[in-house]
Amino acid sequence: MAELADHMGMLDEMVTSAIDAGVAHHAAEDWRLDGRTIQVEGNKVVNFSSCSYLGLELDTRLIAGAAEAAGRYGTQFSSSRVYLSAPAYRELEETLGRLFGGEAIVAPSTTLGHLSALPVLVGPRDAVLLDHHVHNSVQMATGWLRHAGSHVELIRHHDLERLEERTHELAREHDEVWFLVDGVCSMFGDLAPMAGLRELLARHDALRLYVDDAHGMSWCGPNGRGYALSEAPLHPQMVLVTSLNKAFGAAGGVIVLPDAERRRRVRTCGSALLFSGPIQPPMLGAALASARIHLSPEIDSLQTKLRERALQCHTWLKAADLITPADPRAPIQYVEVGLPREAQHVVRGMIDDGYFPSIAQFPAVPVKRSGVRFGLNLHQREDDVRGMIESLTHQLARLEQQRGARRRPGLTATRSIDAPVGVRTIDSLRVERVRSIRELDVQEWDRLLGARANFAAASLALLEACFRDAPEVEHRWAFYYYVIRDADGHPLAATFCTRALWKADMLADRRVSERLELERTRDPLHLTHRVFSMGCLLTEGDHLYLARDLDAPGGIRMAPVLGRLLEAIQKDAKAEGCANIVLRDLDARSEPLGAQLREQGFHPAEAPESFELRIDWEDREDFLRGLSKKSRRHQRQAVAPFDDAYRSVVFSRAGEMATTRHLDRFEALYRNVKHTSLDLNTFDLPRRFFEAAADRPGWEIIALFPSEAASSEAAPDDLPVAAVVNFVGEENYVPLVIGLDYDYVRDRGLYRQCIRAVVERARERGCRRVNLGMGAPLEKARFGAKSTPRCLFVQSHDHYIHDVIAQMSQQAGGDPQKR
Ligand SMILES: Cc1ncc(COP(=O)(O)O)c(C=O)c1O
Repeated sequence: MAELADHMGMLDEMVTSAIDAGVAHHAAEDWRLDGRTIQVEGNKVVNFSSCSYLGLELDTRLIAGAAEAAGRYGTQFSSSRVYLSAPAYRELEETLGRLFGGEAIVAPSTTLGHLSALPVLVGPRDAVLLDHHVHNSVQMATGWLRHAGSHVELIRHHDLERLEERTHELAREHDEVWFLVDGVCSMFGDLAPMAGLRELLARHDALRLYVDDAHGMSWCGPNGRGYALSEAPLHPQMVLVTSLNKAFGAAGGVIVLPDAERRRRVRTCGSALLFSGPIQPPMLGAALASARIHLSPEIDSLQTKLRERALQCHTWLKAADLITPADPRAPIQYVEVGLPREAQHVVRGMIDDGYFPSIAQFPAVPVKRSGVRFGLNLHQREDDVRGMIESLTHQLARLEQQRGARRRPGLTATRSIDAPVGVRTIDSLRVERVRSIRELDVQEWDRLLGARANFAAASLALLEACFRDAPEVEHRWAFYYYVIRDADGHPLAATFCTRALWKADMLADRRVSERLELERTRDPLHLTHRVFSMGCLLTEGDHLYLARDLDAPGGIRMAPVLGRLLEAIQKDAKAEGCANIVLRDLDARSEPLGAQLREQGFHPAEAPESFELRIDWEDREDFLRGLSKKSRRHQRQAVAPFDDAYRSVVFSRAGEMATTRHLDRFEALYRNVKHTSLDLNTFDLPRRFFEAAADRPGWEIIALFPSEAASSEAAPDDLPVAAVVNFVGEENYVPLVIGLDYDYVRDRGLYRQCIRAVVERARERGCRRVNLGMGAPLEKARFGAKSTPRCLFVQSHDHYIHDVIAQMSQQAGGDPQKR
């Protein structure tokens, strides 16, 4: 999957949209806090966004502890701990050591705890397996590990089987294999499978378990030592990092290590412990007071109270048919809504109803799994929780109503306030959806899309013949054609999509592809996924027809038309089990389109550069005159000297017939290119594609044979040294696949001669454009070809595949995208 364009830009857009929707960047306006409510925009609301689950932040003993420490030591003790620690530090670390049953180091925060511990504990000869949902602060620290030479890879969330398999494999080449996971998932509230993890620790000596239990702290486990240690003590192969910032009611993070030597190393070398300031005295005082509560029986009754509240909440959620991935005991609950905009709408409605939950959206959760996250705590009352769930249910029902209204385009159109003046609204749209080009009016189809690259009906007929219902899973594509029509049957939008198996690294750094191809010698389908995309793997260009008068004065609004199309596409993608939808290769400048797609949870990514050459010249002289001076020189010096080195033959139904020997050769040449470049890492095309291209109307294969003078033993003049498979449209000539003998590329200008042959043939066939496609930008530009910026729009229910490739690309030190 292509790297999403401009991560920071996207983040900015996401957070800004939440701010604009009134669900982020609020500030509490209270003069005094009571823990239960906060004042926001002048209104009192019940706070469901706090992580102080036991409500200890207002406990008088903690407040007194903070005040007393401030009185004794001042507000600040400004010295690095490498030189000097404030008096209360030693006592706090000893107390926490007892509480956790391990060797404790207090860090200024959990994040700084990770940044201190991980680079010391994990060496360059170790491997790191990251749980896909592990907290961002842990992922941040693994950036350093990768930089230092450790191998880092992602594991699907809580996939213990894969964890064991990879531990086993990695242990052969690495000293230790670290698995990094959250005890309690900070967004979804689900719990790490600790029992299974302990079994793995027992079976694999090389395995090390590193748990971030920030959200498991205090409300669970003996002495509130957290979820991860609730069932068994600290394992000798385990490290725990947890938080004093959340249910503990104070500030800071704690690193708990299984032995004194490891503690010494982290304390001595941990970067934040060397170079950052400490927790300040008031918070040390509060932490000591909290630790005393944790070490007393009182913690059990607090835990019991919260657990009862959580179980009660879970029962109410269930009764309201609200599904949550959270554990029923956890104080974090999550209800998925859908698109970010929809989740924002629900959260905003809840704030207006008097409840303040947290919005959960990308990048904390996948785009299409945006939702409402709420925390339970002991300040809230039972009826607060019940009221909050009622509000959530009510807001979800409102959303459902609006979704229904949106599906009825006439209604949306009349209600819309942003329709340009004079734009017609419509009462009915018809979605025509078929599974084969044969079921469509092909003349109409060709009128709408036929003049764009190879989307003409004749081209699609061949692609269907080769890939629909194919016997091999990697070549089995499902075709979907969509035409949206107005009440009179006029087409307003049209496109086609395919469901196909993609290699996850299709557009990734070539080093990533090289590594994965090695793995695929064992398992050919390794890291592949079903993608629902506009067009197919053998088409390029803007696949979306939109009637020109959409949104024009007197025309129909584009939004409902596109809305219907997207709805149909998303429904089919879901039925096909595709977690990713890719809309290609849309005009990057088209803002109304881009804005609507973004609103629907599609995110833009730069499409690989693709070249088009216009044939607006009569002969070679005319062609050369149209080029820049530099390109003319290139043609004279690098192309022309080999003009006579090859003879070009066209294999097609009307032309030369391809024999088995020719076809073998075409395939072999194609594989040469395919296996050398890995530029667009797809599955190798099947033989039947070459057979069909040499025999189907509208298709032809141009083969270049060495002229007698240029032939050699390795390439006799009756076998081609290059082959280009082309679709010949009414206006477009589309070379899709190329095969080359590289000996001739290096020494005898073969690639350039292929472009020349293709361009000349296109002119001969009366085409006005040649779609030269991706790759070799310089070579193509020197023939006068131009590229237009294009965008992919990606909608993802599950980022795992994307994140794995991004991780691998970082490991390879490359750009996640090849181009
Ligand atoms: C699981 C997890 N780990 C770490 C952190 C970061 O904690 P801190 O603010 O102490 O750095 C958070 C923050 O919410 C978290 O949820």
